[in-house]
Amino acid sequence: MDCLVCHDSTGKYKKFPTDCGHPAYEEKKFMDKVFPKLDLKEIAQNVSNPDRRNCGACHFFGGGGNGVKHGDLDTSLLAPSKALDVHMDKAGLNYSCGKCHTTEAHHIEGRHYSDPASNDHNSAMPKDNRNRIACESCHSATPHKNNEKLNHHTDKVACQTCHIPAFARENPTVMWWDWSKAGKKAEDGKPVKSKNEQTGVEYTTMKGEQHWKKNQSPDYYWYNGSMTYIKAGDRIALTAPVKLSVPAGGQNDPNSRIAPFKIHKGIQPVDEKNQTILIPKLFGKPGSGAYWADYDWQKAGEIGMAAAGLPFSGHVGFAETWTFWPINHMVAPKEQSLKCDACHSGVGRLKDLGGFYMPGRDKSRVIDMIGWGLVGLYGIGAGLHGILRLFKTKK
Ligand code: HEC
Ligand code: HEC
Ligand code: HEC
Ligand code: HEC
Ligand code: HEC
Ligand code: HEC
Repeated sequence: MDCLVCHDSTGKYKKFPTDCGHPAYEEKKFMDKVFPKLDLKEIAQNVSNPDRRNCGACHFFGGGGNGVKHGDLDTSLLAPSKALDVHMDKAGLNYSCGKCHTTEAHHIEGRHYSDPASNDHNSAMPKDNRNRIACESCHSATPHKNNEKLNHHTDKVACQTCHIPAFARENPTVMWWDWSKAGKKAEDGKPVKSKNEQTGVEYTTMKGEQHWKKNQSPDYYWYNGSMTYIKAGDRIALTAPVKLSVPAGGQNDPNSRIAPFKIHKGIQPVDEKNQTILIPKLFGKPGSGAYWADYDWQKAGEIGMAAAGLPFSGHVGFAETWTFWPINHMVAPKEQSLKCDACHSGVGRLKDLGGFYMPGRDKSRVIDMIGWGLVGLYGIGAGLHGILRLFKTKK
């Protein structure tokens, strides 16, 4: 990427979608949108430190639209209320991205995706072997002043789990994307589009069917800060959903904690015979074999796989795939943090996370009584504490 995308302060510097990172040097059209000729001189004379618009220009729009991929990074963070994000709150702390993602000599801190695990600083990108920012960098691992029980949780439960009870709280995000339905056209051969009143576009000829959802509860997994991946050319089993990225870690890994994720689910083309993910050519002129021009998966697969240097059997099929997106942003006001029974209950948020004992959720009667005894005692303790404080303040 070039310097101006991060350092432009005029808001005018934009990349042209299909020009490999180049902006529009002359006025150009992409689909229905006009990209005006840029005044590069004006832009160059107005460089400054990056703000949310600069970082968001890429990170809010991953997947081809606002909030498509990330459930916790979208344009609602340009000027959020405290209810949406206690740190980025425009009228409050007003944090920029860089306040947390501190940057020294262009190493932006805080990354998840590395292969293999980033804990031993064995990152995919050697230059990214940096300390990672964390909630604890500012708050410590014992941030709760009046509640020791909450501090006992922070070794096993990530801060984000309790403090981001739901993602996409203002703008919707894509939870389901079915590419196998793409390509339908109207009788006159024109592309079709349908909308959902609340959340917007649901079907387009180019992209197939998308379900956009707001205010979603995350899914929870043990997570040590790195992911395992299916890579281009890896053999996959096509029977169960193919997990393209999965959080690494487990209950017995001391570096793992229970963390929140958005699972982006969908159906996408595969090479059925070689059992690999298909890499189709999407963009191009009519007759080029690009899917978005000729709507032929077979042809698009042939060209795409050849360009990627991968074998292609010629058999296109479709498989369900899942991608895991960590939830780190949109920290809610403390009053909205998860309450005890959000987890300590048989129907709670952690009901599917097996392998360890949790009072209130699990069935061991004896331990349960002790467990709930502890929770109860805590309740009484907090109550007493409250009453004592009342007396104190009255004095
Ligand atoms: C991914 C976004 C990004 C890109 C791309 C980028 N920068 Fe930066 N740059 C930053 C951030 C973030 C800072 C730190 C700003 C701060 O301290 O608030 C920074 C700081 C700087 C500084 C101040 C001195 C310093 O190093 O802290 C200069 C000068 C600079 N960038 C020049 C450039 C040039 C020249 C390029 C292209 C070769 C470039 N930047 C590309 C994000 C970027
Ligand atoms: C209150 C602090 C805070 C602010 C403000 C913040 N982030 Fe983050 N961000 C985090 C933390 C913590 C992580 C997890 C880092 C880790 O575990 O390595 C993270 C992770 C990320 C990741 C990678 C993983 C993911 O969550 O998908 C990206 C990308 C990211 N942030 C972008 C941004 C952008 C863009 C902005 C501004 C719009 C921003 N962040 C503002 C705290 C913050
Ligand atoms: C031109 C597009 C672009 C801009 C602008 C940009 N980024 Fe990124 N950023 C990327 C890409 C691409 C990656 C690599 C994603 C990956 O590793 O999968 C990345 C990676 C990251 C990561 C690590 C996430 C991970 O993969 O673990 C963080 C954190 C991050 N960016 C924060 C920022 C911040 C803060 C700014 C603003 C100063 C910014 N980015 C500006 C495109 C951009
Ligand atoms: C098991 C759930 C849970 C976990 C894990 C958790 N918190 Fe909290 N946190 C809460 C609740 C509930 C409150 C509100 C407490 C209250 O109002 O008395 C709170 C309050 C806070 C406050 C406001 C100050 C205070 O004392 O009320 C901060 C700051 C905070 N948490 C940060 C964090 C950080 C940082 C982490 C990770 C190190 C974390 N929390 C982990 C549930 C949790
Ligand atoms: C760059 C420093 C910084 C980072 C990183 C950071 N915070 Fe904060 N946070 C603050 C400050 C400052 C406040 C306001 C003072 C306070 O309440 O402690 C705050 C307030 C809070 C509050 C109280 C909100 C309320 O209702 O008043 C919670 C909860 C919280 N942070 C959780 C988190 C979580 C979870 C993360 C990681 C995703 C995180 N913080 C990362 C600096 C930070
Ligand atoms: C995000 C889910 C979550 C929330 C919310 C939560 N807990 Fe827990 N709690 C857990 C998990 C997971 C464990 C098991 C941790 C372990 O194995 O160490 C646990 C363990 C416990 C234990 C037994 C171990 C110990 O530390 O004594 C008690 C008691 C407990 N929690 C009480 C509470 C109380 C009281 C609250 C509300 C203030 C609460 N929990 C909120 C997830 C949660």
